[in-house]
Amino acid sequence: MIADWDGEAVVSRFDRETGAWIFVAIHSSALGTPTGGTRMRVYPTPADGLRDAQRLAAGMTAKWASIDLPVGGAKAVLALRSPLAREERQGLLRRYGRLVESLQGAFATGEDLGTTPADMAVIATATRFVHGVVAADDVVDPGPFTARGVLRGIEAAARVALGRAELQGLVVLVQGVGDVGLPLARELAARGARLLLTDVDEDRLAGAADELGAATVRAADALAAPCDVLAPCAVGGVLTAETIATLRCRVVAGSANNQLATSEDAARLHARGVVYVPDYVINAGGALALGLLGRGLAARDELLDRMDRIGEVVTEILVEAARAGEPPLHAAARRVERVLAAAPLRTP
Ligand code: PHE
Repeated sequence: MIADWDGEAVVSRFDRETGAWIFVAIHSSALGTPTGGTRMRVYPTPADGLRDAQRLAAGMTAKWASIDLPVGGAKAVLALRSPLAREERQGLLRRYGRLVESLQGAFATGEDLGTTPADMAVIATATRFVHGVVAADDVVDPGPFTARGVLRGIEAAARVALGRAELQGLVVLVQGVGDVGLPLARELAARGARLLLTDVDEDRLAGAADELGAATVRAADALAAPCDVLAPCAVGGVLTAETIATLRCRVVAGSANNQLATSEDAARLHARGVVYVPDYVINAGGALALGLLGRGLAARDELLDRMDRIGEVVTEILVEAARAGEPPLHAAARRVERVLAAAPLRTP
């Protein structure tokens, strides 16, 4: 799996105490310090966890490049055999933090699917290389920033692809009402969009639907539900040859990483007339916020406004793709290539 991957290195460790595998996938240091979130999940096999880390790390390289930040791509996966109790979880996070510290700055991390701001505070007791931890009880959650960026991306797509100047009345299906999906749903509701919500966690779904007075759809039916915009905000791999054939939306624009099962799915979406906003561009808000904050380039209270940049980048990519009559993913990939090609050579 490592030989078949275009990244630079993988750090692997088996955590005997919990039976978890730790994979730190370092994809590219061309633009700067390889940086990406730490994901914690149960995977069917350790290989599934490694594969996820490798794909997510490549996505981070593209993400940082697409927003022009001098940061490299990486991702960590804590691949669990089964869910952990609180004490076990904290132990794993501390040992993981020591592993990150031992890399001496060759990798930096932050929050991702399955980890929380509190988890970042635990990791930060063992390493300096965690973004967003101001103090033990003051950790910046990237979720709301990612959500604001996705909102700006949806507005851009509505303008360019649907000719709609505002979101009023637009039907948006939010798949997953977690750390990003819920704040996104709030932003959309505030702008008069008609929401359809879904989540595999029924309690979480009921809570969000109550709060926002939104309709819900069953998780199994979500991808075939009629809507203007489908916003995948949960796990990756939801757009496959099979699901793309059943889509009844005009735009796909959400925060999940690795939404396409394979890169050919971009052409499949294009052939069906669905405008797919590349995940690593529209979901870059959390990375952008933590990146700006970590470099002292923005004050905390101005970060939400800085997410307007995501809307600008999405607009540029959609306009370029529409002119060329190509899937937006192709225009986005060219943009990433341009930025990487212009990177100064770095000595490791
Ligand atoms: N996990 C989020 C992402 O994939 C936010 C994040 C970015 C966290 C960079 C840490 C570092 O974009």
